Amino acid sequence: MAQSGEPKPATAARIYDYHLGGIHNFPADREAGDTVAKLFPLVPALARNNRAFLRRAVQYLAASGVRQFLDVGSGIPTVGNVHEVARAIVPDARVIYVDLDPVAVSESLEILDGDSRATAVRADLRDPDSILTHPQVRRMINFREPVGVLLIAVLHFVPDDEAAVDAVSRLCAPFVPGSHLAISHASGDGMVEPKTDDLAVAKDLYSRNTTTPFHLRSRPQVERFFAGLELVEPGVVWLPEWRPAPDDPTDFTAQPSLSAGLAGVGRIR
Ligand SMILES: C[S@@+](CC[C@H](N)C(=O)[O-])C[C@H]1O[C@@H](n2cnc3c(N)ncnc32)[C@H](O)[C@@H]1O
Repeated sequence: MAQSGEPKPATAARIYDYHLGGIHNFPADREAGDTVAKLFPLVPALARNNRAFLRRAVQYLAASGVRQFLDVGSGIPTVGNVHEVARAIVPDARVIYVDLDPVAVSESLEILDGDSRATAVRADLRDPDSILTHPQVRRMINFREPVGVLLIAVLHFVPDDEAAVDAVSRLCAPFVPGSHLAISHASGDGMVEPKTDDLAVAKDLYSRNTTTPFHLRSRPQVERFFAGLELVEPGVVWLPEWRPAPDDPTDFTAQPSLSAGLAGVGRIR
């Protein structure tokens, strides 16, 4: 991405885009991204596997009758965006992308220009009402029909456990039965030898260099986000274990826990 004016500070969205091999990042993002990748060489593979879960979850939801999606913490448009994946199954699927990062929103709007059934808005997951009452959300989402709420690799940027659980519950509250919640979340449960010093450095890096510090959660903590929902089989599992498909990346086939990401889908009753 060309740099103009003042150097841009790193953001979680652009560091992630850099790790996915995207083009929507600046020098500060690449520098922070390289530091993270030096500490955790698996990070680009984690990003790939997370993105593959997103694809499978959207395919599952679309095949289950979901025709509208609210993708919160959507990031910068990159390979396999939700509207593209969903429309391969439901051609008239509607998608609202929501992100805190203005660059993620403006890049999304650029890509979606002229698409009357998809848009991007800037809002904060920690304030779910600001999402649910957003004029674009009210305009595009039919609250009488099932909605697919996607919280993919975003909840670990909401460190306060109670605030995160409360935000998810408030975000899902207005949606009718048949709606679904899909979550992926960074977890240290599978670390054989927890590299606490490295982890502390990585956490500190996000805290100092972005506006969104991150927080790992255990499987029971991730399962808590699905309280009151019917957890779809196989439950909350490592990323590559959630309904694997033949075209998935194979980075963690031998040891799925190394994917460091837990994933699950719940059905709103
Ligand atoms: C790792 S990216 C995930 C992108 C995409 N969901 C995916 O999995 O490919 C995390 C995104 O969450 C966004 N984010 C972090 N905290 C947020 C918040 N409180 N509200 C909305 N978005 C947030 C970041 O800006 C970033 O774009």
